[in-house]
Amino acid sequence: MSSTDSKMLKYAKQIASQAIAFDRAKNYREATINYIKAAEILVECTKYTKNANMKQMWSDKAHEYLDRADELKSMGTKRVRLRSSLSGKSTSVRKDSEEGEAEGEEEELTEEELEMEKMVMGTVLIEKPDISWEDIAGLPDPKQALREAVVLPLKRPELFTGARQPWSGILLFGPPGCGKTMLAKAAANEIKCTFFVADSASIMSKWLGESEKLVRALFDVARRKAPSIVFFDEIDSVAGTRGGASEGGGERRLKTQLLQEIQGVKGGGSTAKKLLTIMAATNRPWDIDSAFLRRFERKIYTPLPDIDSREAIFAYHTRGIDREQSVDFRELAEITEGYSGSDIAIVCREVIMRPIRELDKMGSLEGNSDVQVRPINRDDFDHALRKIRPTVSEEEIQRFEDWREEFGG
Ligand SMILES: Nc1ncnc2c1ncn2[C@@H]1O[C@H](COP(=O)(O)OP(=O)(O)OP(=O)(O)O)[C@@H](O)[C@H]1O
Ligand SMILES: [Mg+2]
Repeated sequence: MSSTDSKMLKYAKQIASQAIAFDRAKNYREATINYIKAAEILVECTKYTKNANMKQMWSDKAHEYLDRADELKSMGTKRVRLRSSLSGKSTSVRKDSEEGEAEGEEEELTEEELEMEKMVMGTVLIEKPDISWEDIAGLPDPKQALREAVVLPLKRPELFTGARQPWSGILLFGPPGCGKTMLAKAAANEIKCTFFVADSASIMSKWLGESEKLVRALFDVARRKAPSIVFFDEIDSVAGTRGGASEGGGERRLKTQLLQEIQGVKGGGSTAKKLLTIMAATNRPWDIDSAFLRRFERKIYTPLPDIDSREAIFAYHTRGIDREQSVDFRELAEITEGYSGSDIAIVCREVIMRPIRELDKMGSLEGNSDVQVRPINRDDFDHALRKIRPTVSEEEIQRFEDWREEFGG
């Protein structure tokens, strides 16, 4: 068993024991969520092991957890008000409390609808992102494109009338580690809306047989809470080419459902209140089914950072740390062509940890509270840059450029 497998297994166990603890404490909602999550991880584990006994054992365990989750779900609740049932945990991020209707809205839901809502809440993260534009160094073009496509229609709906309609679907694409997820979050952060982050892997958990219903429920909730953004991160895992040999029936139905829902979303209309925007990100745009691609009218390319952006990323990821004169961000940016934002972030982390590591090796950190940490210097960067190489190859970049040429963005 590889170390990744054993880590996953350990994680599954941890989640399962949380589920059991919640179950005992009669917190059935959290218990259900954790049972399902543990089962999901176990199913992932079974995919990667060749050992038939292990496979069987984990699969049995996963079934056991799912059975318990089903049992808990079917214990059901009477017709209840969504708000009161979810009020234990503030999941909605609406900020527009001045709009009385939004806050005061208490919709009667049927038992089934409520269950589905709960499932959505368990699978989909509804969050107020804590990333702002300032946290994203450089990348002026993607930032501007996103402002235009997402922020303006929601902030200034009156500008989008007549033929000038907002885009209903926006796809961020580009090499890994170049800020796509960050950009989506920053856009959502700037506007007053409910932000659903659909974790594609959970949605794909087709063996639950519920993912279609979940997709429908997700869009229902999103419409009810509009203006909202539904963000499918790493959408290639749910919107891959349909009809492949490896595709199961559940998977096909899920994709069809998702496509239907996305097709049903029309950008805006005249009032921002109704606006439901679909956003997605991928680092494998060529894997996305063409029917899905068509729905993302606006494609935004987030390339590797250029020299100015790299300079800004170095500065951002070493902020608040003393440095010697020998550290020149411009020069570092010059020698790091081909590094992604995330590569540079890792270099910086290595650099700023080095002085601490030295002290620790000398034993100076033991019981010594007023120890002096030296400033970082150029040698720290050289050392880190030798160790950490760019993760994205030139061929991959070419592939993005070619795709962009063909599909736009
Ligand atoms: N422009 C940037 N400014 C600051 N940090 C950045 C920037 N770009 C990337 N990073 C760093 O890289 C990390 C990864 O960025 P992010 O998750 O947005 O990449 P991504 O494009 O979504 O990658 P993937 O395709 O792998 O999902 C961030 O958490 C951040 O530390
Ligand atoms: Mg990402």
